[in-house]
Amino acid sequence: MSGKLRWLWALVPLAGLHAETGADAWLRYAALDAAAARRYVNTLPPVVVVLGNSPVEQTAQRELIRGIRGMLGVTLRVSSTVPAEGAIVLGLDPAVRKAVPGTPAGNPLAEDGYALSLRTAGTARHLSIAGGSERGVLYGTFALLRKIALGEAMEALNEHSAPYAPVRWVNHWDNLDGTIERGYGGRSIFWDKGVVREDLSRVSEYGRLLASLGINGCSINNVNTDPRILTAEYLPQIARIAEAFRPWGVRLVLSVDFGSPQRVGGLATFDPLDAGVAAWWKAKTDELYRAVPDLAGLLLKADSEGRIGPSAYGRTHADAANVIARALKPHGGLFFYRGFVYDHHMDWRNLKNDRARAAYDNFNRLDGQFDDNVVIQIKHGPIDFQVREPASPLFGALEHTNQAIELQVTQEYFGQARQLVFLVPMWKEALDFDMQARGAGTPVKALVAGKVFQRPTGGFVGVSNVGLDANWLGNHMSQANLYGYGRLAWNPDLTSQQIAAEWTRLTFGNDPQVVQTIESLQLKSWRVFEDYTGPLGLQTLTDIVGNHYGVSVEASERNGWGQWHRSDEKGAGMDRTVATGTGYAGQYRPAVAKRYESLATCPDELLLFFHHVPYTHMLHSGKTVIQTLYDLHYDGAVSVEGYVNSWKLLKGRVDERRYAEVLAQLEYHAGQAQVWRDAVNNWFHRASGIADAKGRVGHQPGRIEAEAMTLEGYAETPVTPWEGGSGGKAVACQAAECSAATRFEGKAGWYTVRVQYFDQNNGNARYRVKVGEQVVDEWTASNWVPTQKIDSSSSTRRSVTGIALRPGDVIRVEGTPDGGEKAALDYLEVLPERP
Ligand code: GCU
Repeated sequence: MSGKLRWLWALVPLAGLHAETGADAWLRYAALDAAAARRYVNTLPPVVVVLGNSPVEQTAQRELIRGIRGMLGVTLRVSSTVPAEGAIVLGLDPAVRKAVPGTPAGNPLAEDGYALSLRTAGTARHLSIAGGSERGVLYGTFALLRKIALGEAMEALNEHSAPYAPVRWVNHWDNLDGTIERGYGGRSIFWDKGVVREDLSRVSEYGRLLASLGINGCSINNVNTDPRILTAEYLPQIARIAEAFRPWGVRLVLSVDFGSPQRVGGLATFDPLDAGVAAWWKAKTDELYRAVPDLAGLLLKADSEGRIGPSAYGRTHADAANVIARALKPHGGLFFYRGFVYDHHMDWRNLKNDRARAAYDNFNRLDGQFDDNVVIQIKHGPIDFQVREPASPLFGALEHTNQAIELQVTQEYFGQARQLVFLVPMWKEALDFDMQARGAGTPVKALVAGKVFQRPTGGFVGVSNVGLDANWLGNHMSQANLYGYGRLAWNPDLTSQQIAAEWTRLTFGNDPQVVQTIESLQLKSWRVFEDYTGPLGLQTLTDIVGNHYGVSVEASERNGWGQWHRSDEKGAGMDRTVATGTGYAGQYRPAVAKRYESLATCPDELLLFFHHVPYTHMLHSGKTVIQTLYDLHYDGAVSVEGYVNSWKLLKGRVDERRYAEVLAQLEYHAGQAQVWRDAVNNWFHRASGIADAKGRVGHQPGRIEAEAMTLEGYAETPVTPWEGGSGGKAVACQAAECSAATRFEGKAGWYTVRVQYFDQNNGNARYRVKVGEQVVDEWTASNWVPTQKIDSSSSTRRSVTGIALRPGDVIRVEGTPDGGEKAALDYLEVLPERP
């Protein structure tokens, strides 16, 4: 074969729509179409030279070859010297300047920053990837590959990029037994049965994903820490994880237990002011650094949700943080102290009590007392990753303390990766929120990056919780949250739209219809989720004392956890004003406090977070609170229904496997949105006694309650909480096989029959739907949802479409229980299909 022919052969796209597991996430390096590939092949030098031999730079070179091979179908030639005709040259900034003729002198690159440039001199063409650090070289390489995947022009390439903040970390809430607290993508990639996994290949693949976003630190064990992590037994194991990450420039972080000096050190105390305790932390830290010399730091959750802390000795958080920070200091390590400190045994009867106040109350008075390698890690809102919270006032208060914002990538309160919710627009609102900490122009992002009060360090932490499942996070769409987190940590000025577009194109390809559809689903998804799970600042109306998944409007009330919304028959919302409430609004700087304090200026979307109002209170929108609640819940459910329809139009444009998996997810999601809609609306309808002006709440067209059907073997059972079941009731099968039948009395025509049933995680019940004697659908309820009960979490919808019905037809659902799952039914809906 001639050289020319070989090129042509190599340019034919390799991939059609073959099945993808999602494991490659946004680093698929899918073959570009022939014309685009040819353009790049003609522009890029065919040779690569890496100037340094550090593992990270070597990784960069390998990644470049891999990416170019995948996208362009050609293999770069590796050379140890820069040939006169040109090369892609990778290396540290000064080395690249020296090696590439004619590179103009410029400002030195920021640490971890990079510069990409293409220079042509005569017939020579050099593309340089210069890094401000070894990591910068790798980040620059990923940036170049991203540009190619996105089809960006290379000809005039000349770009500098620097990370917005030094700290760009992820946290993992992995337990040593391999489970993950609030993880929805399978078991831990790090741990199994109390030890570090033998096979850490998934850890290095994860390191690659993180490096592609510029993430440079990763904690590998739960903040609810098992103290054994600091025993000698674990150090060599931890060192293996550090080794797997090292080629990707990702440094290890450990969560520690504050009681460690006593629990694993055998001391009589863990008092941070005790000299023996300080010495213990120092010796332990030295030992850690002998095992992992590039350890990035340690992380602590103390005095929170049952974790012990300095309060045991009447010491301050600064005392606690500094004792460990001082041990880390000689090694250059950072100590992250979580701002998530609150009392979860608060008296709910006291209307002045307020969990939202806790972070500020605990830390503001200590400002200035923390050592300069301590970072206070602050959740983005004052409560706990709820669907809508204001930005934490603590960001605007700390002037002499390093801080980092904690964002939760794993979708704990956002449908736990079973629903599609793109969190970037929510994070952007927090990051861009102007705290007015020194007059206007002090957004949260600048405060955490230490740019306002000139702090030595700070930045971003994302609770990622990926798992062993092929697609890392439990579904394909959730990957956008990890991608988005990393991109924002590098550059929080990117827009949500830019991030969604990039992610979609890298993950699903450049087909304009695919890009436009997925981008639009992602971009609206947070607000849609908010519409049906907790609008107007109510926070997520979920089972906050249980699985944090299903709907349970009152679960937040009458307990010490402090996620109260105080909705009752008279009104809703929590009075957090200074004038009459908890005073939380006064924790913001005056200009912000004033806006939240007044009903006239408080934004509608946070109204019930700051104010308790009657249901008839008129919003800025001109609608009452109660009617807005009803309407938004209907709007939200309709929108999710729309996701399914939009996705279906992508059939044949997305590979079969991901198409089918996302479709199943969206169909499930649409059913859940309806469950939430009805539950929340029915609850507020009962509480307020105010009818829906549009007559929808309590009147479901075509709905037939299971308990009103002709039952054989099925018995009525209450649903708890009541709003989780239609009419507060369901039927559960008490025999080996049961049936529920109804006679259709409508007009002859085509119908969709929806069966609302309960799919728990403790059995695989079977269902069959018959019209007359004909079986029109059957399935096994084998989904895994976090409940073993008949409740809103297990409530699931099955739609059987295209059913011809005539008056008198008998529709029968047959259920066969399995294990703890009683083949329960809530209702049927028989809905006419449009001709
Ligand atoms: C949430 C979450 C817990 C977690 C805690 C934390 O409350 O539900 O699982 O431990 O946050 O951030 O520490």
